[in-house]
Amino acid sequence: MATDDSTGKSKIVEAKARNKGLLALFVIGLCVGMVIAEKLYVQRSRSQLRRKLSVTQTSAGSMYLPGSVKSEQINVNFSAPARNDLEVLLRKIAPQQEILLAVANKNTLWGGMLETFTNGLKDTGVQNHLILALDEETKKWCEDHGINAFLLSLEVHKAQAGTGDNHAVSAMKFGIIKRFVDIGWAVLLSDVDIAILQNPFQHLYRDSDVEGMTDGFDEQTAYGAIEGFEDPSMGWARFAQYYKHFNLNSGLFYVKSNKRTVDLMNRLDTRLSKQKYWDQTAWNEEIFFLSHGSYKSPQVSVRVMDIDQFMNSKRLFKDIRKRAKAQRPPKPVMVHVNYHPDKHERMRAVFKYYKDGDEHALDSFPGGSEPGS
Ligand SMILES: *[C@@H]1O[C@H](CO)[C@@H](O)[C@H](O)[C@H]1NC(C)=O
Repeated sequence: MATDDSTGKSKIVEAKARNKGLLALFVIGLCVGMVIAEKLYVQRSRSQLRRKLSVTQTSAGSMYLPGSVKSEQINVNFSAPARNDLEVLLRKIAPQQEILLAVANKNTLWGGMLETFTNGLKDTGVQNHLILALDEETKKWCEDHGINAFLLSLEVHKAQAGTGDNHAVSAMKFGIIKRFVDIGWAVLLSDVDIAILQNPFQHLYRDSDVEGMTDGFDEQTAYGAIEGFEDPSMGWARFAQYYKHFNLNSGLFYVKSNKRTVDLMNRLDTRLSKQKYWDQTAWNEEIFFLSHGSYKSPQVSVRVMDIDQFMNSKRLFKDIRKRAKAQRPPKPVMVHVNYHPDKHERMRAVFKYYKDGDEHALDSFPGGSEPGS
């Protein structure tokens, strides 16, 4: 009996073990099946998407850059003659239909600021660059220094007269960019107070109409946050929330060439020709203010550039440089000295720090503009 009993028990144990094994096999089989099914599904949707894309491409006859499903880029017919002098030049220096554009006048020659800026272009091998020269002197300087230049002598908008050279020039830049996006070229607009440390075209996403640098200095201020708002007089509904982020900087952004960006540039140009206004405020209003009633915004899609790749000078001088070495992000792509008045000195220091490896190049500068900050 005892033996029988024990074999009986061991049989039960055996059966239990077998059941467990079968159950495990069943579960594994189920998982494998699900994984395979999902793979098949993803592959099918991908090939459907590809089919759809190629249909759009052939029917529209337009060129799509990689990763841009919704780009609707303005087409350039390279077999037809160029439509104007600018296009003749762009076809030569930027056949990929993307150009890094900086607007400059002779003020930027003083003290060598334009030279420091264009040295960044040379160091990083940005061939598809163009200085839009607003006077002969600037154009000549560029030609003497192996920099692509195009002369465009524009009259300062009457509405901006008396705002000082820099703001007046800034107000004209949307009209200038319009000439590029209108004929099929995407523009990476760059102010000249920017240290270029890597080729920016290797660090764009190209999945949005506008891809812009932010004035935000951490994840919350740059990428967006929901904030609370309290109105105790409302009692039961005293709490509400709103969305906020810092403005995009109008001195460094990438715009695609399509109907929406042409519309955006048109609106900004028209507006700033009539109104005395800071171009950066107008830039953000046109991009972010919501359509409502009879007002329809340009409805461009927007991406904020990574705060550690396309870095502003507040982020660098107030935060990054003070971190322990292991906590510092890798070398940025571009650093915009937008937050500080001693632009050229800080630009040079940024090059010393990131390019020449001088660990102490940034040490002597205060965090803000005032000593000890
Ligand atoms: C491009 O231009 C050529 C020459 O003018 C013309 O024959 C051709 O039809 C054009 N192609 C398209 C797609 O417009």
